[in-house]
Amino acid sequence: MSFLTLEHVNHHYFTKDSYTKALEDISFSVKEGEFIALLGPSGCGKSTILSIVAGIMEHTSGKVLHNNKPITESGLAIGYMLQQDYLFPWKTILDNVLLGPTIQDTVNAEISEKTEQLLAEVGLDNVANQYPSSLSGGMRQRVALVRTLITDPKILLLDEPFSALDFQTKLKLEDLVFKLLHAYKKTAILVTHDIGEAIAMSDRIIIMGTSPGKIVKIVEVPIELRNEMPFLVRRHPKYQPIFDKVWEELNKNESHSD
Ligand SMILES: Nc1ncnc2c1ncn2[C@@H]1O[C@H](COP(=O)(O)OP(=O)(O)OP(=O)(O)O)[C@@H](O)[C@H]1O
Ligand SMILES: [Mg+2]
Repeated sequence: MSFLTLEHVNHHYFTKDSYTKALEDISFSVKEGEFIALLGPSGCGKSTILSIVAGIMEHTSGKVLHNNKPITESGLAIGYMLQQDYLFPWKTILDNVLLGPTIQDTVNAEISEKTEQLLAEVGLDNVANQYPSSLSGGMRQRVALVRTLITDPKILLLDEPFSALDFQTKLKLEDLVFKLLHAYKKTAILVTHDIGEAIAMSDRIIIMGTSPGKIVKIVEVPIELRNEMPFLVRRHPKYQPIFDKVWEELNKNESHSD
């Protein structure tokens, strides 16, 4: 039984006098504990897929299932992490992290302990009482990661969480996210434009094309790369051949739509 399945999903965005076909016949499945990357050019519908999986948006047709039940009825706990961190500037780091449990009125000794532990794991225990304005972009994304994990989601939807960061910070954060999500055995879908990041982080890459958004190829990341830390994957002898294969698929599709 698949953890998450999309079957022939189509999505149209309607405006007053026109519509955009954002997704056409999207089908794929994700196993529990798997790390999937959605890779493709701007406008191919990556964020639309995440919004549909998150239940923020209703797809036009097709099925989205969690353990064979429609996702809207299955009660799947979802964590969302975006390019922007959306931390509240007037709240401390600790209060930002505890936002979800505070709203749900579930703050207790166990949550407080878990918060402390997670903040320490991402190297931010010493800034818990500071405000977001005194933190760097990379630190703020680490806070956003802890805020996402504290609600114990079963699947993490990561929409280009590293793309606003400088390259060095991005590489370090990739390693940290990889380590934490594997340690806590999370299932994840990562949206990215970056071929290297998709290979370094994921088990499988879903390559998408535009106009309308569709899947052009699903590529398995070689087994030798899957359990390596992202930073080391880029130096592995198996990295370049898979990079070239993904590059070719992306280009093939681009030249078709020229
Ligand atoms: N709210 C909306 N109303 C109308 N059209 C939309 C809306 N949101 C997205 N679209 C269109 O749907 C298509 C897919 O958009 P989406 O944001 O999912 O792409 P994306 O792959 O995430 O792009 P990017 O890499 O730039 O973030 C695009 O053609 C976009 O213009
Ligand atoms: Mg997007």
